[in-house]
Amino acid sequence: MELERLQKYIARCGVTSRRKAEELILAGRVKVNGTKETELGTKVDPDKDIVTVDNKKISEVNKYIYIKLYKPEGYVTTVRDQFDRKTVLDLIDIKERIYPIGRLDYNTSGLLLLTNDGELANRLMHPKYHIYKTYIAEMEGRISQESINRLETGVVIDNYRTAPAKVNLLKYKDSRSLVQISIYEGKNRQVRKMFDAVGHKVVKLKRISFGEVSLGDLKTGSWKNLSNDEIKFLKGNQEG
Ligand code: URA
Repeated sequence: MELERLQKYIARCGVTSRRKAEELILAGRVKVNGTKETELGTKVDPDKDIVTVDNKKISEVNKYIYIKLYKPEGYVTTVRDQFDRKTVLDLIDIKERIYPIGRLDYNTSGLLLLTNDGELANRLMHPKYHIYKTYIAEMEGRISQESINRLETGVVIDNYRTAPAKVNLLKYKDSRSLVQISIYEGKNRQVRKMFDAVGHKVVKLKRISFGEVSLGDLKTGSWKNLSNDEIKFLKGNQEG
């Protein structure tokens, strides 16, 4: 087998996406043949070299897994949590190593995709593919049409102007609003910050779809394998 960049090999072994694999290398959590490797350019021979992450040997994935989970509030999407909080992996009882594609906040519920296909995860997390993720947000106050228009054209959060969003008021519920919003970017706490930018505090947030993959009839806390059509949709978005 040909030599391969260390971060690419780690992604192919289903440990995490390539970008996150680079972080693992820089953090000193990766060893090649017993020696800590912190250079991103390093190449390995997948047939001969022994690579470990956190001292656990990794190996090539022979079966790709694609899962959708209805994440409840109160779970972190990282694989390990420094405060020992429950993680989404506590909800999925399979022996293969998988990890979330992107993240949802601790207090956000809804659709989360998980896989061991590092290349696909890497691409899906990239905003250039313009995959819309749709959320239902419940917020304090009655949102005005003017604020909706502002969200649709883009607002400034953390010195960054958001790309156009699709926004629909679903209903007013007493002094609150229920709004559906679709965005294709994934900045940290982006939806919450976008509504903050127009003066509304989000009190509940749920993701209902990721491109053509939706929550469907999943119950909170449960998961299932993606259908062939759903996998095809995600892979179809790899071009570019
Ligand atoms: N936007 C947020 O603010 N939180 C999420 O969990 C996802 C998108």
